[in-house]
Amino acid sequence: MPAAAAIRKVRRMIPLNARLARGAAGSMPEADGSCLARMALGAGRVLASAAMTRNSAMPPDAGWLKRLGMERDAAEARIPQDGPPTPHPHAPFAAAQQPAPSARAARSIVLVGLMGAGKSSIGRRLALQVGLPFRDADAEIEAAARCSIAELFARYGEPSFREGERRVIRRLLAGPPLVLATGGGAFMDASTRAAIRAGATSVWLRCRLEVLARRVAGRSHRPLLAVDPVGTLATLMAQRHPTYAEADIIVDSGEDSADVTTRNVHHALQGWRAPERLAVRLSGGAYDVVVGSGLLSRAGSLLAPVLPQKRCVVITDEAVAALHLPSLLAGLAQAAIEAHTVVVAPGEASKSLATYGRVAGEVLEHGVERRTAVIALGGGVVGDLAGFVAASVLRGLPFVQVPTTLLAQVDSSVGGKTGINTAQGKNLLGAFHQPLMVLADTAVLATLPARELRAGYAEIVKAGLIADRALYAWCEEHAAGLLAGDAGAQAEAVLRACAFKARVVAEDEREEAASDGRALLNLGHTFAHAFERETGYGEGLLHGEAVALGLCLAFALSARLGVCPPAEAARVAAHIAATGLPARVDALPRRHSAAALVAHMQRDKKMRDGRLAFVLVHGIGQAFTSRDVPAAAVIDTLRESGCDA
Ligand SMILES: NC(=O)c1ccc[n+]([C@@H]2O[C@H](COP(=O)([O-])OP(=O)(O)OC[C@H]3O[C@@H](n4cnc5c(N)ncnc54)[C@H](O)[C@@H]3O)[C@@H](O)[C@H]2O)c1
Repeated sequence: MPAAAAIRKVRRMIPLNARLARGAAGSMPEADGSCLARMALGAGRVLASAAMTRNSAMPPDAGWLKRLGMERDAAEARIPQDGPPTPHPHAPFAAAQQPAPSARAARSIVLVGLMGAGKSSIGRRLALQVGLPFRDADAEIEAAARCSIAELFARYGEPSFREGERRVIRRLLAGPPLVLATGGGAFMDASTRAAIRAGATSVWLRCRLEVLARRVAGRSHRPLLAVDPVGTLATLMAQRHPTYAEADIIVDSGEDSADVTTRNVHHALQGWRAPERLAVRLSGGAYDVVVGSGLLSRAGSLLAPVLPQKRCVVITDEAVAALHLPSLLAGLAQAAIEAHTVVVAPGEASKSLATYGRVAGEVLEHGVERRTAVIALGGGVVGDLAGFVAASVLRGLPFVQVPTTLLAQVDSSVGGKTGINTAQGKNLLGAFHQPLMVLADTAVLATLPARELRAGYAEIVKAGLIADRALYAWCEEHAAGLLAGDAGAQAEAVLRACAFKARVVAEDEREEAASDGRALLNLGHTFAHAFERETGYGEGLLHGEAVALGLCLAFALSARLGVCPPAEAARVAAHIAATGLPARVDALPRRHSAAALVAHMQRDKKMRDGRLAFVLVHGIGQAFTSRDVPAAAVIDTLRESGCDA
């Protein structure tokens, strides 16, 4: 019995509901003419293979999988290299309308979506507009297999079809840029999705149910839809939309004509900028710091590939919740990621044992499992607290940082240090717990109060002062714009500072180097923590402000010890003061005692063998760790800066 006849027979044998039930998310592609075979999967495979065994006159073409992965193979010989593989009856563009090569996109464009969304017709039009060749993945597969997808399914089964689809998409994306229309099930395959993510910009043509149903109604090559089109499409939508939402760009392809939708896609592509990704490489694996504007509303698509489960608990503070939680939740919902929320009061006081206890309890109340992720949405306080909750609840939950202050984006969200404060000092209870991903949405910085923006800026300056003289020079040049809200300068600062921190953390993940290493990130912090302890971790002195003062004091101490030119210390103090951050102790709103500050330093967790640990500098960009700092020099430095005895 020929395969097509076997398929017809199967179709008669299998009731529609059973076919639908088998049509799980990834198992019901709908390329032209292929639905029948695909829905007959299962029993159909058995019947068809029996048919193949009997029909020895039809040689199995097992080489098709190989051909799919080959460059310029037999399949390609049958398909024109440029332009649509088959002439489109309604093609609106003449060849003369081909744009000049200069208009060509640098990256391939992959269209995903359900049957009827218009992937092929819009793909053809888009290809002409952007000056790229158009390919249809299903047509490629059929050409390579030398049979229809219906027959392919019947002969080899869905796993082979998916493997072929993976190969053809990989091969096409490895070549010169093109516009590629994929079968509706292709994007449901994790490995195909990964290949598309790596090699192309993906566009989901999203379409409402009624529109889809109208478009596919009466198409004889989609027999599945002839019986219960609306029900079938609704089932497919529920299964696939959360995964389609992982596409880079979503364009509604509704009532508009194909030409209008094509223009919308083209426009969206022109306005789209891929977020920057920085890899933090650690001994136990790597994670990405993703930096870009508008990432919250795409959080689901960005996080879905790394979350072990489509469930999470978002921990945030009241101020951030009011401003940015709805965007994040909407972004997560788009990819069907279920989210609970736990909200704490804003400010350093939330990094306490009491808040930790309440938050951990609420997280457990939400019935988390070991694969449920904790997402920190907020500044360094939320990041440190939520990270410690993630590190300790059920002995460790997956963790994601979504930093919303400049300080958190440039520093605290990267590197895996988490913790809370105790009556004895800052960050004295904590754990190393690396995130799965850091999503730094630079657009949220627009709502950050000016004082918080300044405080975060201190950590960027710190990165430059430690080991990146060019970054420090960039800071001197761009501080005014960055602090005035220049989004470009802010994004660049986040990238540069994160790249710096990623390098340092990769070399000494757990701050175990005998000297220098990750401990260099504490430049200014021995001073800063003492001031924070003195002022009670409140609004009186923000962490970043304390760091700014600490940086100036570390340079002054280094100059006093004769290891740094005084001019370098003066240059740093002048820059810090010019930004409105405290550069001297006498710029603080209250008086401080040098002896009390040194007493706090002696309880700092960086003490070793009872000796004070400092990060000193030979100059800008030349920090080093030291354990030979006499307490008297520290006291003199503090006094010179305006401290009482
Ligand atoms: N883990 C680390 O490696 C590391 C490094 C540096 C600092 N830290 C810690 O970070 C903490 C300081 O972090 P921080 O400066 O981000 O403070 P924060 O988390 O308290 O945030 C500052 C304030 O800004 C508000 N806010 C946050 N995002 C906002 C937004 N987009 N728009 C409007 N308001 C917003 C918050 O509600 C809060 O009131 C300190 O506890 C410090 O110890 C940790």
